[in-house]
Amino acid sequence: MSHLSERPEKPVVGVSMPHESAYQHVTGTALYTDDLVYRTKDVLHAYPVQVMKAHGRITALRTEPALAVPGVVRVLTGADVPGENDAGMKHDEPLFPDEVMFHGHAVAWVLGETLEAARLGAAAVEVELEEKPAIVTVGEAIAAESFHGARPHMETGDVDAGFADSAHIFTGEFTFAGQEHFYLETHAALAMVDEGGQLFIQSSTQHPSETQEIVSHVLGVPAHEITVQCLRMGGGFGGKEMQPHGFAAIAALGAKLTGRPVRFRLNRTQDLTMSGKRHGFHASWKIGFDAEGRIQALDATLTADGGWSLDLSEPVLARALCHIDNTYWIPNARVNGRIAKTNTVSNTAFRGFGGPQGMLVIEDILGRVAPQLGLDPIELRERNFYQPGQGQTTPYGQLVTQADRISAVWEQVKENGNLADRKREIAAFNAAHPHTKRAIALTGIKFGISFNLTAFNQGGALVLIYKDGSVLINHGGTEMGQGLHTKMMQVAATTLGIPLHKVRLAPTRTDKVPNTSATAASAGADLNGGAIKNACEQLRERLHQVAGTQLGGNASDVRIVEGVARVLGSDKELAWDDLVRTAYFQRVQLSASGFYRTEGLHWDAQAFRGTPFKYFSNGAAATEVEVDGFTGAYKIRRVDIVHDVGDSLSPMIDIGQVEGGFVQGAGWLTLEDLRWDTSDGPHRGRLQTQAASTYKLPSFSEMPEEFNVTLMENATEEGAVYGSKAVGEPPLMLAFSVREALRQAAAAFGPAGTSVELASPATPEAVFWAVESVREASAEGAEGSAVGSTALSNA
Ligand code: MTE
Ligand code: MOS
Repeated sequence: MSHLSERPEKPVVGVSMPHESAYQHVTGTALYTDDLVYRTKDVLHAYPVQVMKAHGRITALRTEPALAVPGVVRVLTGADVPGENDAGMKHDEPLFPDEVMFHGHAVAWVLGETLEAARLGAAAVEVELEEKPAIVTVGEAIAAESFHGARPHMETGDVDAGFADSAHIFTGEFTFAGQEHFYLETHAALAMVDEGGQLFIQSSTQHPSETQEIVSHVLGVPAHEITVQCLRMGGGFGGKEMQPHGFAAIAALGAKLTGRPVRFRLNRTQDLTMSGKRHGFHASWKIGFDAEGRIQALDATLTADGGWSLDLSEPVLARALCHIDNTYWIPNARVNGRIAKTNTVSNTAFRGFGGPQGMLVIEDILGRVAPQLGLDPIELRERNFYQPGQGQTTPYGQLVTQADRISAVWEQVKENGNLADRKREIAAFNAAHPHTKRAIALTGIKFGISFNLTAFNQGGALVLIYKDGSVLINHGGTEMGQGLHTKMMQVAATTLGIPLHKVRLAPTRTDKVPNTSATAASAGADLNGGAIKNACEQLRERLHQVAGTQLGGNASDVRIVEGVARVLGSDKELAWDDLVRTAYFQRVQLSASGFYRTEGLHWDAQAFRGTPFKYFSNGAAATEVEVDGFTGAYKIRRVDIVHDVGDSLSPMIDIGQVEGGFVQGAGWLTLEDLRWDTSDGPHRGRLQTQAASTYKLPSFSEMPEEFNVTLMENATEEGAVYGSKAVGEPPLMLAFSVREALRQAAAAFGPAGTSVELASPATPEAVFWAVESVREASAEGAEGSAVGSTALSNA
C-alpha cells in the first residue's frame, strides 16, 4: 500500500471543483431533514413546552388541558421514558427535567396532527414552579463558586522562576462573549418505526452514531434497533455535535409510542432559546516578559461558561488550555481551567471548540501590552514565535515540529499585503485625519488537528463497486456545507484511478459504518478520507490482480489512470467497466470496508500532557480597518490571508472554508452580541437577542472591501491523506487580526504608546468607548499612556 500522502498520476484530488451539491443548493432542490416530512404520510408534529423562568423546581405538571385541544394526540413526559431519562453523554441532562435549569427549558413535548394543534396543546400544558435563585453570568458563577466538571491544570517549566527573571510583569482580566451558531437549518429530526419495531431516524446531526447511542439509552433498546441517517445539514458549526441527540430522542420516543412518524423542527426562537452556544469565558492572567519582550512566564485561569449541564464543556475547555500558547513559545506556564455552572442553555462545540477562546486570551494580552513594552505589535509577536529546530514544546508537552510554517505564512502575508508601504500610508492618513483613523494588524494561528481524546481519531468507510463499473461510497462523516462529501468523492476517484462521475456518495447512515466519531475537530477529511482510501486500495489491489492476468503482466505493474488499466511498459489497455465486469465473473469481491486511525497520538488528561495532535494548522492574516471617531462605526478595508491546508484536496472548497471561517470569526469578535436579562426582574435569565433583528450577523455590508485568500504552496503534509491538512475550523481564528486592527485604530486617537482595552465583541459601541477612553487618557496627558490601568499594571 502506498504512502498516505503520495499522489498517483493525474489525481482527482487537488482539482478545483464546485461543492457536490452546489447546483441543488442554489436552485433550492437540496433536501434537508425537515423537507422529507412532506414526503411522509401520517406525520405527527412535536412541539416543546418551554418554561419561561431561569430556575425552579417543578411542583406540578398538568397535561390534561393539552389533551382537550383538538388534534393533540399525546403529551410526552418523563413517565413515558422506558429507558434512561437523559439526553447527554455525561448523564447530567434529564430529557424531561424535574427542575427548570434555564429560561426556556423544555419540560414536556406535545404531539399533534398539525403543528398548530401541537403548538396550542403546548400552550395549554400547566406547569407550576417553586422558583430558585438563578446564576446568569460567568461572573456571578465565579462569585458564587458555582462550577461543574473537571478542573484541568496545565503546567510547564518553573513559573515562579520565570516571573523572577521578568523585566516587565502585567496582570489583567478579560471577559468575552460566546456566539450563536445561527446555522440556516435549525434543529430537526424525523423518526419512523417499522413493522419490527426498528427505528429509523433522520436527524440534522454531526454525530449520527452518538444520536443513535442516546436514543438507544432513552428507549432502553440496543443500538441495532436504531438507524440514524443524516442526508446533509444546513450548517452545523459544532452546534449539532451533541445538541441534536435529545431532540432526536423526543421524535424517536413519540414514534415508538404512537407507531406513527414524528417530526419536529425548532423555529428560530426555539432554537436560539433552547440550544447551546459557543462558551463565553472569563480569564484572569499574569504575564512576565524579559527586557526584549520575550515571554518568560504565564499564569492564567480560564473559566468557561458551561451553562446548565456539561455537554462538551470539558473537552472545549481542554482545547482552550491547549491553545493559549497559539504561535508563541511560553517556557514557563501554569494555566487552570474551570467550568462555570450557570442557568443558561448548555454551551457546546462551536468552530474551533475552545481553541479560539484560549488563543483570544494571549492575543488580547499581546495587543494590550505591546504599547507598554514600547514594541510594535508585529515585532512583539515575532519575537515570541516558536522557533524551528530548537525542540520547543507546547505547555502540554507536544513538540512543535513545523514552526517554520508559522513564519512562512506570516512573511508571505506581509509581502502579499504590501504591509510596509501600507503602514506608511496609514500613518500619513492618520496624521491628516483627526476624526477617522486607520490601522493594520497582523495575527497568526497554530491550531492542533485531532480530537484531544485519542479514541475518537478513527474513521470508517464502505465502498461498493457495481457490475457496471459505477461506484458508491459510504463513510462516517456528515456533510454540513463544508464540502466533506466532495473531497471524499475526489479521494475515492483518485485511489481507484477513475473519473469523478463514476463515483456517487450515499447519505451518512449508522447501518453502513458503525461507531463513527463526530464530524468535528476539522478532522472529517483526514479520518474518513483515510478510511475511503483504505477501502479503495483493497479494491484496487484486487482489480490489479485481474487486470494483470488480462493484460499479460504483473499485478504490481498495473496502473489505472482516468479509468483505463495498463501494465507499465505496454500499451495494451483495459477499460474500467470491462475490468470490473471481468472481476465480477471471476467472483472477485467488489465491496470493501475501510478503516483509518491516526497514529502517534497519546494524551494523559489527568496530567494534561501528551501529543494529542497529529499536526498543527497554520495561517496568518493582515486586516486593515477604518474607525469613525464620532460613532465607533468601522469598516474592514482589506484582508490578506495566507493559510496552510497542506496540499489541498479541493482548492475551491478550501478557499470557501477560509473565507467563511474568517467572516464567522469576525462576526464573533465584532458584531454578534448575545444579551441575557441579568436584572432581578421577572424575566431574569431570558435571552434578549432572540432573532436576527437583535442579533447582528455578518452580512454583505460587513464584508472586507478587498479580500485576498492564498493557500500556502508546496505544503505537503506527510501524515495525512494525499498530503492535505484539515481546514474547517482554523481560519475562524484569523479574525483576531480584525479585532487587533480595531484596537490599534482606537489607539491612534491618542498619543503613541497608548494601550487600549477593547470589549469582545468589539461592536461599534464598544469601539466608541475604547476611543473615548483613549481621548480621555490623552486629555489627562501627564497621567501616562495606560488606559484601563485598573486591570493592567506594569510592575
Ligand atoms: N462549513 C460550513 N459550510 N458549515 C459548517 O457547519 N462547520 C465547521 C467547519 N466548516 C461548518 C463548516 C466545523 S465546526 C467543523 S469541525 C468542520 O467544518 C467539520 O467538517 P470537516 O471535519 O469535514 O472539516
Ligand atoms: Mo466543529 S466545533 O469541531 O463541530
